[in-house]
Amino acid sequence: MTQGGVTGSRVLGTGSALPRRVVTNAELAQTVDTSDEWIVARTGIRQRHIAGEGETTASLATAAARAALEDAGIEASSIGLIVLATATPDNTFPATATKVQAALGCQGGIAFDVAAVCSGFLYALATADSLLRTGMAKRALVIGAETFSRILDWEDRTTCVLFGDGAGAVVLEAPSGANDGVGILGTKLHADGDQHDLLYVDGGPSSTQTVGHVRMRGPEVFRHAVVNLADVLKEVLEDTGVSVAEIDWVVPHQANARILDATARKLGLAPEKVVVTVDRHANTSAASVPLALDLARRDGRIKQGDLVMLEAMGGGFTWGASLIRM
Ligand code: UT7
Repeated sequence: MTQGGVTGSRVLGTGSALPRRVVTNAELAQTVDTSDEWIVARTGIRQRHIAGEGETTASLATAAARAALEDAGIEASSIGLIVLATATPDNTFPATATKVQAALGCQGGIAFDVAAVCSGFLYALATADSLLRTGMAKRALVIGAETFSRILDWEDRTTCVLFGDGAGAVVLEAPSGANDGVGILGTKLHADGDQHDLLYVDGGPSSTQTVGHVRMRGPEVFRHAVVNLADVLKEVLEDTGVSVAEIDWVVPHQANARILDATARKLGLAPEKVVVTVDRHANTSAASVPLALDLARRDGRIKQGDLVMLEAMGGGFTWGASLIRM
């Protein structure tokens, strides 16, 4: 999906939320056969937040959405569209987005979930942008929220050390027509269903009637991730006529510090332009991109007018990238 260089919806604000409980690598090493040294060396992860009692995907999403609304300085009542990306919904149905809508008190508009796992936020952003462009709503909340800890096999050291819980949100506004170059400049999304078995959950309502656990062939996913991410970034740059050197910040999906380094190297991108949160949050799936975006805006790195590239790749496979002038 691409917008052909026409400026799209603009970002009015961002927000994020993390569960209270922090679990370090050392704490994990007490219950599973791993070590802080292995996890840091292979992934860059040092800790993750894990949802506790009363914390769910909807509650984290709602907290992130409230923070984004406050940052944008707007009332929830002006939101006509909520698109929530998650692979760990509170319930099979209704959509977690409708729970967020009820909690925010902005009923009457559109609210639904998007399932594209770690690329979910990119898919949700593109969906919301498209709906805003067609006039279906004026303002949208785009949320990535996960409680992956609830679908992990805590005895499988090859997956359980990699993930964490959290939520991030963005308030989007329909293009103003000002043509000032601010907003979403271009987006590309892809999927390859042949790669299902490399990263999936071994359960579901229609197959096993269980929730299931995350299964991954890590090294194979790693190889695909570096190639697919570098390619999709190049596609967006080509479409928008922007060079790598012009990008101020890359906000990538946070799966593994080594994937971030390898992708940056492949593109000739300065490593200091890459926002890294994997050390603190681990892989929060659909939440990782908006969480990292919010963090880098709040600590003053990403400023108004900056050119920011978002990118992600996950189960399916699905992957994508989006270039935004903040
Ligand atoms: O979010 C969606 C996208 N996901 C990703 O992009 C994840 C991509 N994959 C990866 O990040 C990496 O492949 C992993 C972090 C999952 C694994 O790192 P790796 O360097 O590819 O390690 P490996 O799977 O090749 O395993 C190396 C060794 C194995 O032992 P042997 O066979 O060499 O004796 C594993 O059994 O490390 C062992 N191992 C561990 N050791 C300690 C695997 N997990 C652990 C662990 N602690 N947690």
